[in-house]
Amino acid sequence: MTYPTHRLRRLRRTEGIRRMVRETRPAVQDLIYPLFVTAGENVRQPLPAIAGASLLSGRPLIEEARAVRDLGIPAILLFAVLEDSDKDESAAAGYDPDGPVQQSVHRIKNQVPELVVITDLCLCEYTSHGHCGLLENGEIHNDRTLECIRKVALSHARAGADFIAPSGVMDGVVQAMRSALDGDGFHNVATMPYSAKFASVLYGPFKSATRSVPGESKHATHQVDVANRRGALHKIRQDVEEGADAVIIKPALTSLDIIVQARAETLVPIAAYNVSGEHQMLRSLYRDDPASQTRAVLEALTCIKRAGADMVITYFAKDIAGWIR
Ligand code: PBG
Ligand code: ZN
Repeated sequence: MTYPTHRLRRLRRTEGIRRMVRETRPAVQDLIYPLFVTAGENVRQPLPAIAGASLLSGRPLIEEARAVRDLGIPAILLFAVLEDSDKDESAAAGYDPDGPVQQSVHRIKNQVPELVVITDLCLCEYTSHGHCGLLENGEIHNDRTLECIRKVALSHARAGADFIAPSGVMDGVVQAMRSALDGDGFHNVATMPYSAKFASVLYGPFKSATRSVPGESKHATHQVDVANRRGALHKIRQDVEEGADAVIIKPALTSLDIIVQARAETLVPIAAYNVSGEHQMLRSLYRDDPASQTRAVLEALTCIKRAGADMVITYFAKDIAGWIR
C-alpha cells in the first residue's frame, strides 16, 4: 500500500469524494440534552455559568421539552436544583414524590411522551453539605448511600423515568438500583451509570450553576483518578456486570482513550458527556466568529463519535440539531 501506487490524496480531492468516504457523521439522533429543573411554577432563569442553559420549571420546562423534541433530539437528561433550605444531611428531598425531578418527569412524560427521559441521580443535589453521598464520621459511607439511592431511584421510576443515571460512582450502585427497581416491578426502567466519571476539574461551571459546591471536595474518594485508565475500565466492567444498560464516560474530550477501549470491551451503548468546562472552552473559542465556532463544536462531536461513543450528552445539542438538520 505504498506510494506512488497508492496516493491517499485521491480520496481527499473533492468535497463529493470526501463526503462519500467519510467514516463518522454527527447526527441529531445521537444527542442528549441536559436540562436543569427546579421547584416552582414558572421558572426560566438563565444559568450564566453554562452559556445557553437555563433553570426551568412548569410551563417553560414543557416549552423547552417540546422545542427539543421538535428539533429531533431524542433524549433529555434532568438535573435537580434545590434551594439550600430544602436540603438536609440525609438527602431526603431526593425521594420526595413532589420533588422537582419527579414532577418534571411526570409532566414531560404526559405532555411530550416521545422524549426519552433520563434522570441524573446524585445525592449532592440534595445534601446540605453538598457531598455525593451520606456521611459517617466525615466520610462518604458507600452502603448507606446506596440505601438512599435505592429510594431516589424508585421515586424516579414511579414518576416515569426511562433511564436513571447514577452519577456518584459508588460501588455496587447498579446492583443496588436494579434490585430495588425489579423488586417493585420496574423491570423496564433502565440504568445508565456514570461509570468512567473522572475526578475532573472540568465540572466547575456545572457545580456553581447547580449550587452544589461542597466545602471541601471528597470527589477523589469516589470519582476515578484522571491518571487511571485501568481504574476507569474496571468500573465500566463492574457496572455492566451488575446490569447497566448503557454507560456514561466523562469528561468526553479528555477520555477518548477510555471510549476507544470501552467500545472494544463492552457491548452496551456508550454515552460521552461533553461537560460544562469543555462546553465553556468551546464557547470561548471563536467568540466573534460563529462559523468557526460551529466548526469547532462539530469537530469535537465528530471526534467523540470517532472514538466510539454512541450518544453524546452536550449543552450544544440544540445548536447542533439546528446546524446539521
Ligand atoms: C453530579 C454530576 C456532576 C456533573 C454531572 N452530574 C457534577 C459532579 O459530579 O461534580 C457534571 C456535569 C458537567 O460538568 O457538565 N450531580
Ligand atoms: Zn454528585
